[in-house]
Amino acid sequence: MLGLKWLLIVPLVSLSCIDTADILVVSTFPGKSHGILGDGIVRLLLAAGHQVTYITSFPTRKSYPNLTEVDVSHNMELSPINTIKINSILDKEVDPRDVTRHVHVMLNLSNSTYTSENVQKIIMDPLQKFDAVIGEWLFSEMSSGFAALFDCPLIWFSTMEPHWMVTKLIDERLHPAYNPDWTTKHLPPFTFKQRVQELWNQIFMSTFMEYFFVPKEEKIYQAVFGPAMALRGKSLPSYYDMRFNGSLMLGNSHVSLGQATRLPQNYKPIGGCHIDFNFKPLPEDLKKIFDNAEHGVVYFSMGSNLKSKDIPEKLKKDLLEMFGTLKYAVLWKFEEVLSDLPRNVHIVKWAPQLSVLAHPKTIVFITHGGLLSTIETVHFGVPIIGIPVFADQFNNVDRTVKKGFAKRVDLSYTMAHDLKAAIEEIVNNPRYAAKVKELSLIYHDRPVSPGKELVHWVEHVIKTKGAPHLRSPALHVPWYQKMYFDLAALMMAGLLAIKIVLKRLFYSKKRITSLKKNN
Ligand SMILES: *[C@@H]1O[C@H](CO)[C@@H](O)[C@H](O)[C@H]1NC(C)=O
Repeated sequence: MLGLKWLLIVPLVSLSCIDTADILVVSTFPGKSHGILGDGIVRLLLAAGHQVTYITSFPTRKSYPNLTEVDVSHNMELSPINTIKINSILDKEVDPRDVTRHVHVMLNLSNSTYTSENVQKIIMDPLQKFDAVIGEWLFSEMSSGFAALFDCPLIWFSTMEPHWMVTKLIDERLHPAYNPDWTTKHLPPFTFKQRVQELWNQIFMSTFMEYFFVPKEEKIYQAVFGPAMALRGKSLPSYYDMRFNGSLMLGNSHVSLGQATRLPQNYKPIGGCHIDFNFKPLPEDLKKIFDNAEHGVVYFSMGSNLKSKDIPEKLKKDLLEMFGTLKYAVLWKFEEVLSDLPRNVHIVKWAPQLSVLAHPKTIVFITHGGLLSTIETVHFGVPIIGIPVFADQFNNVDRTVKKGFAKRVDLSYTMAHDLKAAIEEIVNNPRYAAKVKELSLIYHDRPVSPGKELVHWVEHVIKTKGAPHLRSPALHVPWYQKMYFDLAALMMAGLLAIKIVLKRLFYSKKRITSLKKNN
């Protein structure tokens, strides 16, 4: 009897505790916010005791126990953000939301990442082993090749609110009638025109990706992983099979920030996991500014991907002048020293953003509206003014405006005027602060913190060898079957057949009667 008990208990115990796992984290996109998110994930996994190998464009180059950094910082040269200048947006020379442009950048990035010496070292080492690979999804699905190579589960992470391009990897596309594409500004309920546009977006982008992008990336996939698999005496599974074999999707999202999107079982919203609770208090010089700010502090930072020094001189002067007329203190994160500063304006090259947002005297945050910044504002309950510049920022800002804790100001040569109006509105109308405090409550009211949740699900996937029980059956049902087009076709064929038979009968009856008449 004892033997049987042990037979039951031993596998259960070994299933419920993994000591430490070897995890490969792949976050190669050379955008600072992507780096911050990757760093956050790595920090959490290390704290949970795991061994992490981290392919990153932002290596710290310091040595940590348990962490091996794989430096792909040469990717910085390819950053689309470094090639877009604020004046070209002001002059409307580029459309910052042009997706096909991003996609070309992604192909170059895949090439430059996977053929680099440091990454090749891992790939071509037949002794290298991992228990799981966590790869950022950003158009590129190349990191799925690692899962084939190391024969381990694949976990995606997405930096954005859930959208159809990521859900299709683990379940199906989101319905375009009420889920906005990440590039559009539309918010449901859609008008007829918007609904058609959303549908068109999906059809156009799906076609573009499947017939243009994926085949090109597949070539890189085969060139990179084919020889490495051969070295291990195995053959490379098809790119299609690997892309759609993810165990989990970690999403940098939460319902307090986005909309109540219907999601598959293996999508886990972990928005906010990048926020390190151990942030330091304000440094002395900043603390003095806050202490002296009788009417509160306006914090202005356009994030790390848009350099304020690219702002035209005239606009800079206008902004300074306008800030000077405010009774609030203004803390401006800016990369250069300006002369003739008004008394209430303080420029800092770097600001400890979390400590600034956590300070009760911060009354409004002027931001480019990147998703990490919007998450931080909800985390700390600070209303915002969004000046979107790039990619998904337009959508993020519009969503915060619709939620009622933000104003949007567009980048223009005359924006100082609009910005002042927006600041006064946010500060003097209590509804913005009240709304963001309400969302902050929803955001914090989770059974566990996003960081704990992340670690839990990663370990769950490793323990259960890829968590096949979480996978959606929708993944393998073709679209025409979901829409019952096959049934419709069958019914049409049936109706047609009945029509033909009836016609024949009728015709032959008529012939018989006419024959009879003639006789
Ligand atoms: C898909 O993932 C599962 C679980 O990680 C794994 O067992 C399987 O081998 C993978 N399929 C392919 C084609 O690699």
